Amino acid sequence: MLTTEIPLQDRIIVALDVEKAEQAKELVRRCESHVGFYKVGLQLFMASWFEVVDWIIERGHKVMLDLKFFDIPETVKLAVEQVNNRGVTFATIHGNDPIIRAAVAARGDMKLLAVTVLTSFGEEDLRAMGMTQSIEDLVYFRAKRALDLGCDGVVSSGLEAGRLRQDLGEKLLIVTPGIRPGANVTDGEDDQKRIVTAGRAIAAGANHVVVGRPITKADDPIRVIEAMQQDILQLAR
Ligand code: C5P
Repeated sequence: MLTTEIPLQDRIIVALDVEKAEQAKELVRRCESHVGFYKVGLQLFMASWFEVVDWIIERGHKVMLDLKFFDIPETVKLAVEQVNNRGVTFATIHGNDPIIRAAVAARGDMKLLAVTVLTSFGEEDLRAMGMTQSIEDLVYFRAKRALDLGCDGVVSSGLEAGRLRQDLGEKLLIVTPGIRPGANVTDGEDDQKRIVTAGRAIAAGANHVVVGRPITKADDPIRVIEAMQQDILQLAR
């Protein structure tokens, strides 16, 4: 079920994981007839700082700035202040209590998303750290803490989105990476482990999905986007 009224063109956030500003702009120009939301992450930000961010916003699109701030609270606060009032829609931070508190206190016009557990992280990675709880419980615990501390939403895989939506309500924004095309996909061929299709993630309760390589590496990105949007329309009515 579609959780909120979000236009189809804002459901998929295209991750601009490319080397140079010009490549990112070219990808936006190719996708913008169908997609109005783009993610700038570490690679592109290292290459272009705010150049591409500002350019996308000036073209009338939305930006998720995915730098996953993780530092002492004062440093996170100062970093969040640098992002305020530029027109960024979502910014990401790590989901630890002191970091969330500092970021929430400094938040301006954008929404803050706390990373729960990376989608490249599997149960075996958790066991290797000596942790006995399940990823689902850890994601739920972190998401609940983030919401209680005033965060706007979380980044979580599609496998946990359903429980978060059901137990934490409609107010929580859920953004889901680890999206791969194809029915019943359960395990990835690359570094992503907790993957689902775009339709399944939205149907489970995610507000948006983040898609990188399936679009950026495609010969015909529009074809991939159209197929994912169809999947969303079919599964998430
Ligand atoms: O290429 P792919 O579709 O796996 O890209 C996913 C994007 O989402 C990457 O930019 C990655 O940094 C980001 N991301 C993620 N898992 C998170 C948070 C962000 O994969 N928990």
